[in-house]
Amino acid sequence: MSSYKRLFVTGGCGFIGSNFIRYALANRSDVHVLNFDKLTYAGNAENLADIESDERYSFVRGDIADRKAVSDALSDDFDAVINFAAETHVDRSILDAGEFITTNVLGTQVLLEVARQTSVSRYVQISTDEVYGSLGSTGYFTEKTPLAPNSPYSASKAAADLIVRSYHHTFGLGVVITRCSNNFGPYQFPEKLIPLFVTNALADEKLPLYGDGLNVRDWIYVDDHSSAILAALERGTVGEVYNIGGGNERSNVEITRAILAALGKDGSLIHFVKDRPGHDRRYAIDSQKARRDLGWKPLHSFGDALEATVRWYVDNPTWWQRVKSGEYRDYYQKQYGSR
Ligand code: NAD
Ligand code: TYD
Repeated sequence: MSSYKRLFVTGGCGFIGSNFIRYALANRSDVHVLNFDKLTYAGNAENLADIESDERYSFVRGDIADRKAVSDALSDDFDAVINFAAETHVDRSILDAGEFITTNVLGTQVLLEVARQTSVSRYVQISTDEVYGSLGSTGYFTEKTPLAPNSPYSASKAAADLIVRSYHHTFGLGVVITRCSNNFGPYQFPEKLIPLFVTNALADEKLPLYGDGLNVRDWIYVDDHSSAILAALERGTVGEVYNIGGGNERSNVEITRAILAALGKDGSLIHFVKDRPGHDRRYAIDSQKARRDLGWKPLHSFGDALEATVRWYVDNPTWWQRVKSGEYRDYYQKQYGSR
């Protein structure tokens, strides 16, 4: 049972949002969700085809930066807003940052502004560990680590976090911010490392590893992120930030080799390409605060969850073949040349 029963979820047709909605409906029998999503290239209504007919679920197509559309959809009927909607791919933000500022910064402010004029009592901002910048080979991001974003994507997310904070301090809105590490799982758009490499390998296409392949990310299975978001919604203290991490630090080359092993392929598909500009070297999360204050912990082992994820892409070729569009190919061509 949850004291937040009527959820206004934005960006629910994307990777984490769709997994979260499925998780929340399955784990809280009294929860109703309205999914407000613009359906950008990353949003896919198919991601929720299995729950479309659930009477506790409804969908409105709209843009979080459109004040009227948000006002029309977000009324006193809701207990909480959970904001997943964002432009999310670092490489795209390097090519063109404009949409990142419009959606991630202005869109967040529009949502906050409308939310504060309703009876919504919780606003959860889904942020990222990338707002802290890059670590050397030691140390962890805590909630006290200064914000030092390095890409237009992470800068837009950091800006949004500060606006969320201001709406708590100035207007008393009941905000909570979560900052999670890199997620993986089903329905992730194949522009991100794991689904890109799995689907490329399945098609015997090259796997473009940036730089020396030794950049490190702290991976978490998406359902463990979803359980943390529910915990932050239900048990978080307003005005607080919670770091969420899986505690699974892996270099990109380790991830690549694990994917190839799961698919029974050899290393000949690995293709080292020029590095991403401003590429953050290492992310690692200290999630002790969430574990202690929210009573949360991740439940999935990295190896098993990665294998299950690889299997999901193997079993769902129609899904990823459809989303691997011409636009995606043109974009990689422009950035990294032909493969
Ligand atoms: P995604 O790119 O898969 O999905 C984003 C969704 O937002 C899409 O459905 C898209 O249509 C929607 N959207 C985009 N602009 C919109 C707008 N203006 N109005 C309404 N909807 C809009 O993203 P994701 O990977 O699921 O990430 C979700 C959230 O989690 C983001 O806020 C991201 O910053 C954060 N996050 C992601 C990760 C990760 O590893 N993917 C890690 C930590 C935090
Ligand atoms: P990504 O999935 O884009 O997430 P983020 O940059 O937000 O952490 O990338 C994860 C890591 O994988 C990052 O170090 C960049 C690297 N990477 C590659 O080496 N090749 C690729 O084609 C992609 C998409 C990412």
